[in-house]
Amino acid sequence: MNLTTKTLLASLLGASALAVPVPKGSALVRRNPPLNQFLTALLDQLPAINGPITAVSGVITDLDQLLANLLGAQTTEDGFSGACAEYSVLFARGTSEPGNVGVLVGPPLAEAFVQVAGASNVAFQGVNGYGATVEGYLEGGEPAGGTSMATQASAILAKCPNTKLVMSGYSQGCQIVHNAIEQLPAQDASKISSVLLFGDPDKGKALPNVNASRVLTVCHATDTICENSVVIGPAHLTYAVDVDTAVNFAVAAAGN
Ligand SMILES: *[C@@H]1O[C@H](CO)[C@@H](O)[C@H](O)[C@H]1NC(C)=O
Repeated sequence: MNLTTKTLLASLLGASALAVPVPKGSALVRRNPPLNQFLTALLDQLPAINGPITAVSGVITDLDQLLANLLGAQTTEDGFSGACAEYSVLFARGTSEPGNVGVLVGPPLAEAFVQVAGASNVAFQGVNGYGATVEGYLEGGEPAGGTSMATQASAILAKCPNTKLVMSGYSQGCQIVHNAIEQLPAQDASKISSVLLFGDPDKGKALPNVNASRVLTVCHATDTICENSVVIGPAHLTYAVDVDTAVNFAVAAAGN
């Protein structure tokens, strides 16, 4: 963690907040409104997170790690193992986020799916084999990530042909979703139940063989990443507020 951020966070939160990680699975976990209130308050105090992605990616990694520790967020989800679930959610995290689902959108989205559909009906799976690097973002989504997501999607549909496959991503993860769907065989892409995109740099780009009525793109008004810029500001970091809307969309799409 860089010194300025660390000092600032310590002064805001108390030094103990940085020193004591909350155990995984703690009861504090993943309550979306508190997460976002906290995040919004934090971002107001963090002018460092408003600049080119090359400059702020280290700060994002630090912020993610801090939030993960404070909230007990689980940054790796490998739910696609064992039995087939009603919903299989394949998620690609944003640039510089840890694990395979990150912190800012993945864990709250997983929690929202579980709340609506029930834990036993949701297999939440992060995209593996994807480094979420800044270079990847700048080249339109790390190529290995797109290929990996496509491979995972086909594997899910091969094993669980009746599952409702949801393809989702945040930030660079949206580029990964676009690139993965472009690589999928038409018969797999046409089985996708819904696509949920948060802060999509490729906003509005058609997804081959996926009916547009199955695609939800959430872009905050002042998030210029959605205009394919390289500037990250607070509006790009607060998509956890939209996960309930997205899950409701996915459930409605699954019924069509
Ligand atoms: C896309 O979905 C809409 C709404 O369900 C439907 O009316 C339309 O026929 C679909 N288009 C294609 C090409 O399947």
